[in-house]
Amino acid sequence: MLIRKPRAGEGDIPSSEITPYEVYLDRRRFIAQSVTLAGAAAFVPSILGASESRQQSEELTSFEDITHYNNFYEFGTSKEDPAQYSGSFKPKPWSVQIAGECGNPGTFALEDFLKGHEVVEPVYRMRCVEAWSMVIPWRGVRLRDVLIKAQPTGNAKFIKMTSVLRPEEMLGQRHQVIPFPYVEGLRLDEALNEMTLLATGLYGKDLLNQNGAPLRLVTPWKYGFKGVKSIVKIEFTQEMPENTWQVMAANEYGFYANVNPDVDHPRWSQARERRIGEFTRRPTLMFNGYTEQVAHMYKGMDLTRWY
Ligand code: MTE
Repeated sequence: MLIRKPRAGEGDIPSSEITPYEVYLDRRRFIAQSVTLAGAAAFVPSILGASESRQQSEELTSFEDITHYNNFYEFGTSKEDPAQYSGSFKPKPWSVQIAGECGNPGTFALEDFLKGHEVVEPVYRMRCVEAWSMVIPWRGVRLRDVLIKAQPTGNAKFIKMTSVLRPEEMLGQRHQVIPFPYVEGLRLDEALNEMTLLATGLYGKDLLNQNGAPLRLVTPWKYGFKGVKSIVKIEFTQEMPENTWQVMAANEYGFYANVNPDVDHPRWSQARERRIGEFTRRPTLMFNGYTEQVAHMYKGMDLTRWY
């Protein structure tokens, strides 16, 4: 993955289209952590041990940056490409296939797939393996709710999630820069974790194509490449699935992809990160600051081996 600078202050979304922070924040409910509002900014208070608490505030990343600094290789490899080249992608109608080790497989229209599940709007820190980060107010349903409805069997140990393959609408798929369709996986307990989200929107609006419309994964304690976009299939498996970046370079990208400042990428340090919209770099936190919520899942594991 390449590291590029974001475009500052540019964009083709008129400001009238963007929900003002205050209006947006007023109607929000948060899970996983409470949020204190201060003026137009949201600050995520420390829910961590004192040693992990941040000195700096955590303001929401702007809608402009979240939607114009993207990794979505189906639309090109530059950060600006997804916003620029995803306009003709059609996220509606959409269906999701549930397959593998479960009692309730099938192909479901997205509306039916989501129906009946609580809609949640967590604000999560997101950390890319390229050492930049954002704070994003997501909207979606908990992955665990849809997985439980699918009735996993005792053989289900992992899930494998697959992105859509539509080279006619996704120009990046016409060149095999990476193998398509994009695939990601989680261990079942990770998938069932309270924080794991199937996102359908951000900033209170439906996901734009460049962010993975209409449905994408969000696992905030893992590097961003876990967040498989435009999901068409979720399969319960007995074996650990191979994810796309692991297939590309197994020595650089592992299955777990947990944010870990002590395990460097072979080509760069993971100790610090640049928050998009800021200039100074800040220290990266273990599990991206979500130790309390997720560390129990990795007890006894050598995280230098299972990176
Ligand atoms: N999903 C698909 N299908 N294709 C991709 O190229 N890139 C991943 C992930 N999901 C990617 C993907 C990477 S490397 C990152 S960092 C995040 O999406 C970026 O999500 P964002 O653009 O919404 O910030």
